[in-house]
Amino acid sequence: MKIYAAKDYADLSRKAANIISAQVIMKPNAVLGLATGSTPVGAYKQLIEWYNKGDIDFSQTFSINLDEYQGLSGEHDQSYRYFMNHNLFHHINIKIENTNVPNGLAEDAATECLRYNNIIKTLGGIDLQLLGIGGNGHIGFNEPGSAFEKETHLVTLTDQTRQSNARFFSSIDEVPTHAFTMGIKSIMSAKKVLLLATGNAKAQALYDSFFGPVTPGVPASILQLHNDCIVIADEAALSLIREKTGWESVTYDN
Ligand code: F6R
Repeated sequence: MKIYAAKDYADLSRKAANIISAQVIMKPNAVLGLATGSTPVGAYKQLIEWYNKGDIDFSQTFSINLDEYQGLSGEHDQSYRYFMNHNLFHHINIKIENTNVPNGLAEDAATECLRYNNIIKTLGGIDLQLLGIGGNGHIGFNEPGSAFEKETHLVTLTDQTRQSNARFFSSIDEVPTHAFTMGIKSIMSAKKVLLLATGNAKAQALYDSFFGPVTPGVPASILQLHNDCIVIADEAALSLIREKTGWESVTYDN
């Protein structure tokens, strides 16, 4: 695991976009595992800027997203399909048919999970998985207590996650209660993982994930066992790690 300290959000976003674009340059038909949420938005903006300058070409690239709310169509402005279309896909030359997000309206959840797992297999696995992290250490929608060996599955969202995502809906009642998510097993099978964290609200989760025991109680802690995991975090998110470990430099390599 490598941790890189970013000066600020712009620096974090640029560093992340550099790693993603290097992946696409080295393997134009790369399979990018993508995330939604506030954290990766700056990296997506940076990728769009470099695409507009002609520096990066996504025409052969595939993507597979981590998760989607159950019950929302891709046209719903809070669905993750909508988020990806508007924050990235519609602004670059990735072929929309090469992008994958679970179908929130799938009639049968088990069939949808199977379909999604098969996409990952058919694509030959994920080359680079981008992740944010929840304040409780969740990755994707794998909440504390999730079994490490799961692939794509349907989860019941915790109150904490629903409360935290309520800011995007007009009321908490509108936040879906269930979501499809890639499981920890799917995430761990990605060849490279890039986790981004910003702000004080992530400091405890970041410390617990990378300096505490590997436990389902902190889902991201499993990443300690991934052999190519990069973390980029700003100083606020790193504050507890710095305080408790005395680590002072800008890169940490274990
Ligand atoms: C998003 C996802 C979530 C978020 C996490 C952090 O697809 O799977 O795990 O990465 O909740 O969200 P933000 O970035 O909004 O703090």
